[in-house]
Amino acid sequence: MSKTFTPPQTEDARRELEALGLSKDQLPGAIPRHIAIIMDGNGRWAKAKGYDRSKGHAAGAEALIPIIKLCCNLGVEALTLYTFSTENWTRPNSEVGFLMELCPEYLRRERQLLIDNNMRFRHVGKREGLPQTVLDEIDTTLEVTKDHTGMTMSLALNYGSRAEIIDAVQSIAQRVTDGDIKPQDIDETTISDALYTGGLPDPDLLIRTAGEMRLSNYLLWQISYAELWVTDAYWPDFSCDHLREALRNFAGRNRRFGAVEPR
Ligand code: FPP
Repeated sequence: MSKTFTPPQTEDARRELEALGLSKDQLPGAIPRHIAIIMDGNGRWAKAKGYDRSKGHAAGAEALIPIIKLCCNLGVEALTLYTFSTENWTRPNSEVGFLMELCPEYLRRERQLLIDNNMRFRHVGKREGLPQTVLDEIDTTLEVTKDHTGMTMSLALNYGSRAEIIDAVQSIAQRVTDGDIKPQDIDETTISDALYTGGLPDPDLLIRTAGEMRLSNYLLWQISYAELWVTDAYWPDFSCDHLREALRNFAGRNRRFGAVEPR
């Protein structure tokens, strides 16, 4: 990231770290730099309560606010939220329409939360295909948070990992054609930087709610070494306590990155 990340030094932040109950020698290295979340189960949550699916999405948007605040207070550097996939366009028009109204309304309403907490906003995904109302709110939010140095909160919106990789390969091929780089110069950094997430650290922890054990075309390059945490809780029920449980578990993981345990 271009600006140096500065974790919050507030009393709230200190309390949140304490509430995790990790030992001093575990902290602060035990906190993931980047958390990615697949917020699944809005529809099932709504169905179980006899509501329309849209009510599940609205409840999901509300559930997100305390999670953003907690991640920010814990000193997480990047939080990336799967909000609408390139495949979600195949859902009924009414549901797609609801989500395309909810997103700009959410950005308008929560912009102050980002400003008050020194957060940066980022859109991860394709702009083409998104309604102008959504693009306008994305652009305003990008602009007003661009100088912030705290957590980067990304909405993966009109996002698909394969589409992202195709876009990256095309942009790198163009650079080769332009004589900017040679094919043999292409390395992991070239590819990482060409992705929509370019400049962000790779996710250390991928959380999926609502129990399914799949990746759903989400950040496939970036999660190569991410630790996975799946909970049965539907996204609208996912609370700060669920997140703390995932983080305590993450802190106990032995990440070897393909190497062996030192003797
Ligand atoms: C998956 O649940 C969720 C989505 C496709 C949308 C995610 C959106 C939100 C959490 C709310 C919007 C957030 C913002 C920031 C505006 P699903 O509908 O696939 O649930 P199901 O698998 O139970 O049917």
